Amino acid sequence: MVDIKLESVNTLNKNKIGIFDSGIGGVTVLKEIVKLLPNEEYIYYSDSKNNPYGDKKDDEIKLICEKITNHLLEKNCKIIVIACNTASAKCANYLREKYRDIMFVAIEPAYKMVYDYAYENPTLVMATKGTIESERFNLLLKKYDNHKTYLLPCVGLANLIEEGDNEKIVSYLQENLRKYKGNVKNVVLGCTHYPLVQSQIRDVLGEVTFFNRCV
Ligand code: DGL
Repeated sequence: MVDIKLESVNTLNKNKIGIFDSGIGGVTVLKEIVKLLPNEEYIYYSDSKNNPYGDKKDDEIKLICEKITNHLLEKNCKIIVIACNTASAKCANYLREKYRDIMFVAIEPAYKMVYDYAYENPTLVMATKGTIESERFNLLLKKYDNHKTYLLPCVGLANLIEEGDNEKIVSYLQENLRKYKGNVKNVVLGCTHYPLVQSQIRDVLGEVTFFNRCV
């Protein structure tokens, strides 16, 4: 007689939503998803070991994301949310192609929202170098360009947020954002880590409208 335990049968049942980022940034996305789908079960994979993704080569990010995907699938995820602008820009297509049965939800900087709601206003897009240089973001920019947009690759900022040293974060923001004070009204937070320092950004830039979908 063969005794098949229910557990071993259940491993075939995919029942969770997997979500990942290069650390804590994706929690800003998770928070919003949980509000919409409170009855789902979630696994959050915080890849702080490989932070930052923003300066890495495409192939390296693909490899990292593939490993995380395999891990989340082993944990019975039915859907995977790439809660990272950089990883979404660089390998959402690759993952969708490779794992055809799995649904991947990807994100992008909320630049279309500027087009829809505040087209006239000068805009600053803050994102990782990887996102700003990506083909995907450049297609978005071309499509919704308001022709008053500054692009700021915030090299090292996600890393500082990950470390959590507020003094360093504030001095980074003062140094890199000061020149935009009074010159921009919209700020697109194109990295999931940045909403975590939104108030510090406002302290430097003054009254601006933030676009990030995850307030
Ligand atoms: N939080 C990620 C993003 O949205 C990545 C930041 C990083 O690791 O550089 O782009």
